[in-house]
Amino acid sequence: MENCIERVLISEEEIQKRLAELGKELAAEYQDKNPIFVGVLKGVVVFFADMIRHIPIDCQIDFMSISSYLGTQTTGVVNVKKDLDVDISGRHVVILEDVLDSGNTLKHTVALLKTRNPASVKIVTFLDKPARRVVDITADYVGFEIPDEFVVGYGLDYDERFRNLPYVGILKRSVYEK
Ligand code: IMP
Ligand code: MG
Repeated sequence: MENCIERVLISEEEIQKRLAELGKELAAEYQDKNPIFVGVLKGVVVFFADMIRHIPIDCQIDFMSISSYLGTQTTGVVNVKKDLDVDISGRHVVILEDVLDSGNTLKHTVALLKTRNPASVKIVTFLDKPARRVVDITADYVGFEIPDEFVVGYGLDYDERFRNLPYVGILKRSVYEK
């Protein structure tokens, strides 16, 4: 598995250091708001589990599954595979995402959740690839801005592989170009 990685882009240590900083900001903003942290499956699971442990306030968690990707190319088509279990009306919703790429997935997710009358909706993305954006959307909190490279690890996959790498790595082109 490791021999498919061109190089480590973000190490385990850098990730934890950044999440601790983000956690302080999020805890300050949401201290008395009892927010619902919504994870967009599956890529977010590792980030989500680490992130919420850096936010020591009253909160709830829930998950959605939305897909827009096949292989490394966006299809532009999003599909809700699993919806939330909780009612978000009047609640402060914080969406956690693994990577903001074209923006299609999040734009659709935010629009859907806003129809349910939440008190607020904000976005926290672990990774942001601004160069790839095709729709107008920005995250409120960004872990790391990264270049236009296909990355895996720390929850991110290529064809469902590499999610368990503890760091973010750039995949060798030979893995997806063969
Ligand atoms: P968007 O709708 O184009 O913003 O795509 C967001 C989704 O695409 C993410 O939640 C990932 O599942 C997937 N994705 C985008 N870039 C990468 C990458 O570099 N590695 C792995 N998955 C990615
Ligand atoms: Mg994916």
